[in-house]
Parts: sequence; C-alpha cells; structure tokens
Amino acid sequence: MHVNTTCEKISSWHHLSPDWLNWADQLAPAAQKINRHLIDALDLPALARAADGRALVVLDLASGVGEPAFGIARMLAGEEDAALHGHVIASDIVPGMCAGLRARAQAGGIGNLSVVAADMEKLPFGAGAVDAVSCRFGVMFCADPDRALGEARRVLRPGGRAAFMVWGAMADNPLFGAMEDVLDRVLGTGFDACGHDICALADPGLARARLERAGFAGVDITTHRPVGRIPETAAFWVPQLEMLFGHVMRSATPGQIESIHSAMSDRLRPHIADGHFRVPMCFHVVSGKTPLIKFISA
Ligand SMILES: C[S@@+](CC[C@H](N)C(=O)[O-])C[C@H]1O[C@@H](n2cnc3c(N)ncnc32)[C@H](O)[C@@H]1O
Repeated sequence: MHVNTTCEKISSWHHLSPDWLNWADQLAPAAQKINRHLIDALDLPALARAADGRALVVLDLASGVGEPAFGIARMLAGEEDAALHGHVIASDIVPGMCAGLRARAQAGGIGNLSVVAADMEKLPFGAGAVDAVSCRFGVMFCADPDRALGEARRVLRPGGRAAFMVWGAMADNPLFGAMEDVLDRVLGTGFDACGHDICALADPGLARARLERAGFAGVDITTHRPVGRIPETAAFWVPQLEMLFGHVMRSATPGQIESIHSAMSDRLRPHIADGHFRVPMCFHVVSGKTPLIKFISA
C-alpha cells in the first residue's frame, strides 16, 4: 500500500495535534526531567534580579501542547522561588496544538500563561518585547531555522536570554535511526520524506555559529546523553512514533503496523541489558544572550 510520502514540514504537524494531546500527560514527568536543562540555561533568577521587581515575560516557541511552557509558568508563579514572578506566552504555528495547549493550561489551573498562534519565523511581537525565549525541539522544524533564530533575537530585550533544545546526531539517537529505517522499509516514509531535518542543529560548532550570526552573544552549548531504563517488554517507541508519524500510521494496514512494531523491537534489541531497554539519546541546549545597551554620556 502506498502511504503519503510527500507530506510537507508544517502540514504534517497539522495532523499530529491529537497524537501530542494523547500522550502529553503521560510523558510530562519525563519531559520535566529534561526541561530542567533548558530552563537552567535561561537563568531566570538572574533575569529577575536585572528586572528589579518587574514581572518577567518568557516567550516559548513551538510549544506543541505545553512543554516547556507549563514548567516555566509554574516557576514564574513563584512555586520554587518566591522572587520569581511573571508570565509565559506559549506559541505554536498549528491551531490544533494551540487549542490543546490552552485546554491543558486551563485544566492544570495555570493562570500566568497565554497562548498565541505564531510562526516563529515571523513573530507577531515588537522588538525587545520579552525577557527570555525558550524553544524545545522546535527550531529544527522551521523551513528556515536562521530566520527563526533572528526573530528570537529581535523580540528579546537587551540583556535577555534565549535557549534552544535541539537533537544531537542521528547516530547518537538510535530510537530515531530505527524509526527512519523501519518506516522507510515498511511505509516508504520517514523524517526525510516528511521534510523534517531533525538533526539540523546537531553539530555544536555549526549551531554556535548560527546563533552568533543571528546576533546572540555569550553562546553556550551543553550536551546531554540520558539513557532510559525501560522493561524489555514495553514498546517504549510507540509515543514518539505516534507523535512524529501518527498521520502516516493511521493510513497503514494492521499488517504494516505489526511489521513496524516487530522491526522496531528487533532494531532496538541490541540495547537490552538486565531485562531493560537502555537506549541512549543525545540533545544539546544552545543558549545565548542579547548584549546590554551601554549609554555613553558625551
Ligand atoms: C517536536 S514538536 C515540539 C513541541 C514541544 N516544544 C515539546 O517539546 O513537547 C515541534 C513543534 O513545532 C511546531 N512548529 C513547526 N514549525 C513551526 C514554526 N515555523 N513556527 C512555530 N511552530 C512550529 C509544530 O507545530 C510542533 O508543535
């Protein structure tokens, strides 16, 4: 059976919001563990000190249905540090993601968060409007990531900070490598076919150069390589598979679905140790700041 192999970058996301909503609550605890690295890079306490009592505004780009926007909003509600207060603008280009995000924020009682549908390559905010910009696994999905980095830089106040969480190389993310091979073999699709270059910012040197070219100073990169520990009987790849390829999986036959799961299990089996999948992943947090404007008196 022929399954859509010509889906475009954004159009695939339009079909995936039900899958993101379906898995969001279950994946939230694991998401929070890795979000910490992104939030730390923003150094919100330092921004709060510089703001001298003014409420901070953090813009989260490509928020999907809430990560890391919810965690940042909770921090800015003073949950961990009473000195932190402010508001999060969560944004995504896909209306279905924004609707899901809004509903989850309401259900979670998160009051200091608003949702704005926005293309991160053309942000509907003025220059210097926000104190910080966060983006978790989003910028590589833009048609033009450099334009998005430039927009992030433009909307930041002088002294503001931006942090982007991006995937490392495919070879360091065996789950994605398995998905690409298995989906190509069974359905003739995959990241490439859907126009997704998930490793677009995987090279730390190039990522640094791109942030500097966008006008960021003090660019810093940290690399993280967590390894999961999941019982070998669990088909742990299902959430990622559905959130990235749910739209093509829905067009597949039951036989094809079975082949995909069996091939994923075979591909990842070499990572089993002590009865558990120990599959490594690799991501970077790339951060930078906007220079402070110095006033020189004549
Ligand atoms: C991998 S998801 C990440 C979602 C969320 N940040 C998370 O980590 O759970 C990528 C998100 O980028 C959004 N996206 C893709 N291109 C975009 C663009 N040009 N502007 C804004 N959002 C975009 C998609 O709609 C999708 O929700």
